[in-house]
Amino acid sequence: MRILVCGGAGYIGSHACTVLAGRGHDLLVADNFANSSPRVLERLRRIIGAPVFFQQADLRVRADLDALFDGPRFDAVVHFAALKAVGDSCRRPLDYFDNNIAGTIHLLQAMQAAGVKRLVFSSSATVYGDPDSVPVREDAALRTTNPYGRTKLVMEQLIGDLCESDPSFHAANLRYFNPVGAHPSGLIGEDPGGVPDNLMPYVSQVAVGRRERLQVFGGDWPTVDGTGVRDYLHVMDLARAHADAIDYLAREDRSLTVNLGTGRGVSVLELVRAFAKASGREIPYEIVGRRAGDVAQVYADPSLAQRLLGWRAELDVEAMCRDAWRWQSMNPDGYGSAAVDEAAAGEVASQHEWDALAAG
Ligand code: NAD
Ligand code: UFG
Repeated sequence: MRILVCGGAGYIGSHACTVLAGRGHDLLVADNFANSSPRVLERLRRIIGAPVFFQQADLRVRADLDALFDGPRFDAVVHFAALKAVGDSCRRPLDYFDNNIAGTIHLLQAMQAAGVKRLVFSSSATVYGDPDSVPVREDAALRTTNPYGRTKLVMEQLIGDLCESDPSFHAANLRYFNPVGAHPSGLIGEDPGGVPDNLMPYVSQVAVGRRERLQVFGGDWPTVDGTGVRDYLHVMDLARAHADAIDYLAREDRSLTVNLGTGRGVSVLELVRAFAKASGREIPYEIVGRRAGDVAQVYADPSLAQRLLGWRAELDVEAMCRDAWRWQSMNPDGYGSAAVDEAAAGEVASQHEWDALAAG
């Protein structure tokens, strides 16, 4: 299939590209690099072994969308493009509403105009807020606790309304739990700008010496060891689910909403111990007060994804830590670590070349 990957230069999108390309799909990556590096494209070319077709585009800019859709028709769109930092969204909610919600509306309008009827959408466990019970099923109450979460919920709802209005339009809403880890090559991975908000990138930056110690937010949660429990999921398992969702939409001609997680809760201290083992490095930490807005434990019931997509997570916490560490140690400064690129000044194919390939 010909697939448009919006936000494909980002953390999860780039990993999904490796799997989608591996399944033989032709990809056009679109991104505005709001939270990613052009270096990703060269790295992807090395992993995939073929040029990566790329078009710089901002989903809020109608002319950019017109240019993206001004070619042979896509069979599907995978939509990763969003701003995603919870704290940042509390400081500038309007930017999040504009980028995430308005961007999605423009994308859906462009899809509708072009007659593209399949969408895979990056939703989040954040739509459950603080769930009443775990494991969380898809029919749990939806109530978000921050502006970022509200954008994800509104996007799910407006996609749902479009599916209702057009019975031939189908969407896969994928509610990710906590994606971590990296491609096994160590060439692509998570590269948060500034101080990482999330646990795994913080721990790996401590391990590589970029940060002194981890602050563990709360040691008095009602959990196995008093620290927060989450459902960490290897990004390559998550990537595979996108290819499975594309297959589902093509095969079943219907929409779905599924959780993507392992179904297993892991505490902060369990993750720290696993990372120390995988990296052979000490991870100094101190237990401090709880982080505002945090919850004790969230993990998925992933059985619906298994039933509908035939998908289940296969990689364990050891693999998540090993691959995150390989990426971090090969790229101590993320995509700013130029050494890996020196031997690979490869070309990135243009939109023009994509059109030629797609037409042929
Ligand atoms: P990311 O920031 O690494 O990737 C998002 C990409 O979208 C970036 O490359 C960014 O430059 C691009 N982008 C943002 N706004 C854009 C716009 N208006 N036009 C074009 N490109 C734009 O984030 P990620 O971790 O890869 O997350 C991907 C998706 O998954 C997001 O929608 C996010 O909300 C969702 N999600 C992420 C997590 C997580 O923990 N990483 C969890 C649940 C859901
Ligand atoms: N934590 C620490 N120290 C840190 C960072 C995190 O102790 O420096 C703890 C948190 O308190 C929590 C656990 O590690 O107990 C995981 O925290 P993350 O920030 O990595 O993940 P969250 O589950 O809090 O949130 C993430 C995304 C949200 C998304 C949610 C569900 O940031 O956007 O997963 O997908 F909604």
